[in-house]
Amino acid sequence: MPEITLTTLQSLKLKGEKITMLTCYDATFAQAACQAGVEVLLVGDSLGMVLQGHDSTLPVTTAEMAYHVASVKRGNEGALILADLPFMSCATLEQTFANSAMLMQAGAHMVKVEGAAWLAESIRLLAERGIPVCAHMGLTPQTVNILGGYKVQGRQEAQARQMRADAMALEAAGAAMILLECVPSELASEIHQAVKIPIIGIGAGSDVDGQVLVLHDMLGLSLTGRVPKFVKNFMTGQPDIQSALQAYVSAVKDVSFPGPEHGFTA
Ligand code: KIV
Repeated sequence: MPEITLTTLQSLKLKGEKITMLTCYDATFAQAACQAGVEVLLVGDSLGMVLQGHDSTLPVTTAEMAYHVASVKRGNEGALILADLPFMSCATLEQTFANSAMLMQAGAHMVKVEGAAWLAESIRLLAERGIPVCAHMGLTPQTVNILGGYKVQGRQEAQARQMRADAMALEAAGAAMILLECVPSELASEIHQAVKIPIIGIGAGSDVDGQVLVLHDMLGLSLTGRVPKFVKNFMTGQPDIQSALQAYVSAVKDVSFPGPEHGFTA
């Protein structure tokens, strides 16, 4: 696979070709995902749930994230590595700089931070210092205790209006990408129309620039047995993991995934 950069993602967006992203936490899966054509490997703090067995992402530390970023880097064959800044790793600007630098030095090409317009200053300062940022909006699992559970966000008009305004503010601050989790498909589509940077969705419908799923979910593995509505099991009907990864890439590229049944309404 040719090396994927931010410029590649921007040109895929301009061409209307969907961007494929999957979570990835180790070298073997990094290699397998790259060989299937996955363009962005997200070292997500979901590793706290799917690898470590916690009931939320809150216990994950930046040092643990850096360990997994370095592992993914060793198996990477050209994908862009996006690393999550975990819970409370960017509570202050100083922490944001130090922790982002740790993840970039471990091998990330971009960091992802959960939040909304209040992130603007951090995003601007990171971008000015050479660290591209993806803003994670909508359902932000690190704030599950404020949200009162893993719920669809942006269903009320006032909340939807705020999310559209926040997305534009973060783009203006220098965000290189936005990830929208669990928002009504129509709202995701409106945000997609409102900004020029790539929008990646998970539970956000198909009218965005690309899709991401948690690796374990799309391979049909679940510790709890609770499978979110937006997940499709790509192992079904496939002989092996490599074929399932390829089926995911094909389905995102030909827009057969996600279907309406994987999305939410207002
Ligand atoms: O941590 C993660 O895996 C994520 C995805 C749910 C998008 O942020």
